[in-house]
Amino acid sequence: MMSLNKEIKKTYLLLLFFVGALLHINAQSLKNNVVKSPDGTISIEIGIYKSRIFYKVTKKGKTILNPSFLGFELKDGALKDNLSVQKISHSQFDETWKQPWGEEIEVRNHYNEMKVWVKDNSIFSREFIIDFKVFDDGFGFRYEFPKQKSLTEFVIMDELTEFNFPEDHKTWSIPYNTEFYEGLYKPNPISKLDTVATPLTMESKSGLFLTIHEANLTDYAAMNLAGDKKSSKLTAFLTPWSTGEKVFAKAPFRTPWRIMIIADSAEDLMLSRLMLNLNEPNKLGDVSWIKPGRYIGIWWGMHMKKYTWEAGPNHGAKTENVLKYIDFASKYKFSGVLVEGWNKGWEDWKSFEFTQPYPDFDIKKITDYAKSKNVTLIGHHETGGNTKNYESQLSDAFAYYKKYGVDVVKTGYVGGKLDGKELHSSQYGVHHYRKVIEEAAKYKIMIDNHEPVMPTGLQRTLPNLMTQEGVRGQEWDAWSKDGGNPPEHTTIVPFTRGLAGPVDFTPGTFNFTNTALPNTKVHTTLAKQLALSVVIYSPLQMASDMIENYESDPAFEFITSCPTDWSKTVVPDAKIGEFVTIARKDKASENWFLGSITNKDTRTVKLDLKFLDPNKKYRAKIFRDGKDADYETNPYPIIIEEKEVDSKTILSVELARSGGVAIIFSQL
Ligand code: NOJ
Repeated sequence: MMSLNKEIKKTYLLLLFFVGALLHINAQSLKNNVVKSPDGTISIEIGIYKSRIFYKVTKKGKTILNPSFLGFELKDGALKDNLSVQKISHSQFDETWKQPWGEEIEVRNHYNEMKVWVKDNSIFSREFIIDFKVFDDGFGFRYEFPKQKSLTEFVIMDELTEFNFPEDHKTWSIPYNTEFYEGLYKPNPISKLDTVATPLTMESKSGLFLTIHEANLTDYAAMNLAGDKKSSKLTAFLTPWSTGEKVFAKAPFRTPWRIMIIADSAEDLMLSRLMLNLNEPNKLGDVSWIKPGRYIGIWWGMHMKKYTWEAGPNHGAKTENVLKYIDFASKYKFSGVLVEGWNKGWEDWKSFEFTQPYPDFDIKKITDYAKSKNVTLIGHHETGGNTKNYESQLSDAFAYYKKYGVDVVKTGYVGGKLDGKELHSSQYGVHHYRKVIEEAAKYKIMIDNHEPVMPTGLQRTLPNLMTQEGVRGQEWDAWSKDGGNPPEHTTIVPFTRGLAGPVDFTPGTFNFTNTALPNTKVHTTLAKQLALSVVIYSPLQMASDMIENYESDPAFEFITSCPTDWSKTVVPDAKIGEFVTIARKDKASENWFLGSITNKDTRTVKLDLKFLDPNKKYRAKIFRDGKDADYETNPYPIIIEEKEVDSKTILSVELARSGGVAIIFSQL
């Protein structure tokens, strides 16, 4: 009896001790727990509440995020309660680095950093670090799991990162389970969101523009955001494996960066390079072999059902057809010709063979001819989503193309799940895509990745990752049963998917008649097709139409003149979902190019040319919607005219319904 009492007393004392410890943790007062952007406007504070760690964010004193919790559900127990802060460190960073290709040459990487060491006071006794970097245009943070005895191999069942907004902002996003991210971005208040993919862009009532996304998605699952349908809080939702786990990890381990761009205007969202700054610098060393370019392809013909991918009477990849395309590319100075449907396997889309051409595709003859014409063949690896089949041939596949001088390969993953099982944006998919980009780099091959995981800025580290799809591109105007992309689509894409990196949208349709599916078509005017070459950024840009639709059309001059590599980008004017104007300076000359597009409404745009060099005069060649142009009834009329302008000129241009204007400014 006596010893039992003693036991009870001991337990009671222990309990008191733990409660005391807990109270202490609850009340943990922290020092140096605030980090501000270099210009002092954005501020992040971390704290402990009921033994949970949170962060909150303000800009110029205005709340951007209310206290938002951080943590994980691990298979071996949660990493969210019983937390205390052990240590906080601060540092600064400022450098300017150069992009081998991009929307501008120089990028400033300027931030203040706060690292927070967090201790798990549960029986598991684990630790992790949260690393915050605050820039003048937003912030990023990631979790790090240092090497430790109590956490070696572990499984993340859920990441509990929250974004707790003070108001129910308007947002633009696509549902998380949209196949290959090929959806229409829809406006919704936060409180109406189910689970959506990032980038998620928001506009607050007070006129702030915010985008949540991630940077450097490596060895992890893509982050989506789940709403709770009652508040304006969003919580990370990682794409799961087919077995339900989210991430298999081994310490030391780091998550991707969770990022938020905070801008005072929609225009400024597009100029943020925060995502690139949060990726590692170039790992490939000499990248002089990496070259942006504009190309044509044996492609739209398949989508319009004029040609087939598989061999047969209408086989698109027939040698003589490819030679014709090479002649055309050479005549109009395109850098390459994409050829799809060249290799065996298109009959069943399952077991593609990446070194076995169809007999009517003479790769030697084609590539020798291309070389003599200063054009390159752009390769294609459609995998049908069978990554195992592809990986088993990967190095042979690249070596094969390399032997014939092919240095760009478009990859594709059409198929509901990878290997019939895993989601494209799962950790499984992320591993696969990385492997392909790295393997391609060994062969000095550039990649254009279709059906990707959402891009997160990896091109900074691996600059051979040129461009990606992950967008409802122009091909939907060939075969989508809903009739094609609506006029507003391309006025939203630059502020959503476009913020994740280069977009292989493939504008450039000149013939609006769809013989395969008459009610489906491109919902733009011809002038808007030209403007999209500037508006939607891609260092490899395909003029998508069949060559017979370009020849002898004077509007084609804009496509053949428009560069794909820029020394500077400005966004003079935009309203998400309504219109956008972008101007870019050619990297190889003093010339500027401008594209302005509108949704289904006509509008007069005032183009303030203050971006031009104030000491120079320019000849502006203007390609604008002609009389009575209308995307539904009369898409072709286009006026091509020239004017002398300078940086003080304000051009006033009428845009038709779903119309546009494209301008070349040549320095005089
Ligand atoms: C879908 C891609 O987006 C498209 O560009 C390609 O032509 C087809 N898959 C076939 O690979």
